Amino acid sequence: MKVLVIGSGGREHAIVTAVKKSPKVTKIYCAPGNAGIAKLAELVNIGVMEFEKLADFAADNAVDLTVVGPDDPLVGGIVDVFEARGLRVFGPRKNAAILEGSKAFSKDLMKKYNIPTAAYETFDDADKAIEYLKTADMPIVLKADGLALGKGVLICQNLDEAIAGVKEIMLDKKFGSAGNKLVIEEFMTGREVSVLSFVDGKTIKTMSSAQDHKRAKDNDEGLNTGGMGNFSPSPFYTEDVDKFCRENIYQRTVDAMASEGREFKGVIFFGLMLTPKGPRVLEFNARFGDPEAQVVLTRLKSDIIDIFEACIDGTLANTPVEFEDNAAVCVILASDGYPLEYKKGFEITGLEAFDGKDDYFCFHAGTKFSEDKKVLTNGGRVLGVTATAPTLKEARAKAYEATEWVSFANKYMRTDIGKAIDEA
Ligand code: AMP
Ligand code: GLY
Repeated sequence: MKVLVIGSGGREHAIVTAVKKSPKVTKIYCAPGNAGIAKLAELVNIGVMEFEKLADFAADNAVDLTVVGPDDPLVGGIVDVFEARGLRVFGPRKNAAILEGSKAFSKDLMKKYNIPTAAYETFDDADKAIEYLKTADMPIVLKADGLALGKGVLICQNLDEAIAGVKEIMLDKKFGSAGNKLVIEEFMTGREVSVLSFVDGKTIKTMSSAQDHKRAKDNDEGLNTGGMGNFSPSPFYTEDVDKFCRENIYQRTVDAMASEGREFKGVIFFGLMLTPKGPRVLEFNARFGDPEAQVVLTRLKSDIIDIFEACIDGTLANTPVEFEDNAAVCVILASDGYPLEYKKGFEITGLEAFDGKDDYFCFHAGTKFSEDKKVLTNGGRVLGVTATAPTLKEARAKAYEATEWVSFANKYMRTDIGKAIDEA
């Protein structure tokens, strides 16, 4: 079987690694991929938003299954383009990917179907938003409606900050057209947990939980990033929490999408907050998380190809989704300055230390080859150093040990990924 994976980050490296384990797979392509993925797949130089070219490639090369990693092509309708050409593809159609593509849509869905989330109001007029803020409790959360690279959420401590935030999002268009609409949401407190799930339109099977670290600096200081590291499973995702979410959130979301005529097939990523009043949905994503995929998929015991096919065919109820009884920790090695300004193009050395080890992984997030085939840094998040072990504490120690194996100029990491494990 020939598989095409679309994307170029650490998430796609983790997906390709899982696909490679399937005995059914004979060939993997990745478009556009990166220097790490090149060890497992043939790289195809087509961008993730070039839907027709990607579909041409899949058709011309007799690709049996395409797996879409990032949110932008999913929200842009890549799955519809592939399906219209009779090509098998894993991911939600455009009318379902809106679950991530519009926060106003997802909030209205949760309200209509009684899925627990923060109270909110939606605005398309900045003056009305500001009038509303004058009567609201602080802190308060502002969310640009559309996709904004995970940066379109502002937590405002007081009215001045909130008014400035409305102006940034709605008038200055800091996040472009994503800010045409604004969701203003109640501020919640609690631990965050990410639960990814496979969905076939009707049936949902959750993956093992994970906890991300979104801020750039230790002790959750600094700016929000795409994620600086994480661990799986989360010890705070207890059986009680799981039971509540099964009864009130997961299946209800899948059924709600079906009732709206927006059947969801693919991955739903539930960003949850464990508040004092119980679990609440912070956000939905319509794809694997990055770096959640790195810690979750390394622990997947079942054949991922069987699961992808079951999601497409509507047979997930009869397909096992099982995880190893172990733990994984991922520490992101970034370019110093991320998520703002950073330099790239520095040589990375020491990568060969990971070769031949099946409990250490170096997922490439932003890397490329130089003309003479050296591996260079090519992004803010550069590598996701990941280790598995019987316990979270051992996995954390191993992941941090392995961060020392690789070197590049301006290497930066958080030193407290998984600190919460000690509080469990
Ligand atoms: P989102 O992209 O919606 O997950 O938001 C990014 C981050 O902002 C989340 O991971 C939370 O840390 C924070 N956040 C989002 N919504 C809220 C909320 N209603 N209350 C408190 N924090 C929030
Ligand atoms: N790590 C968070 C995300 O993928 O959105």
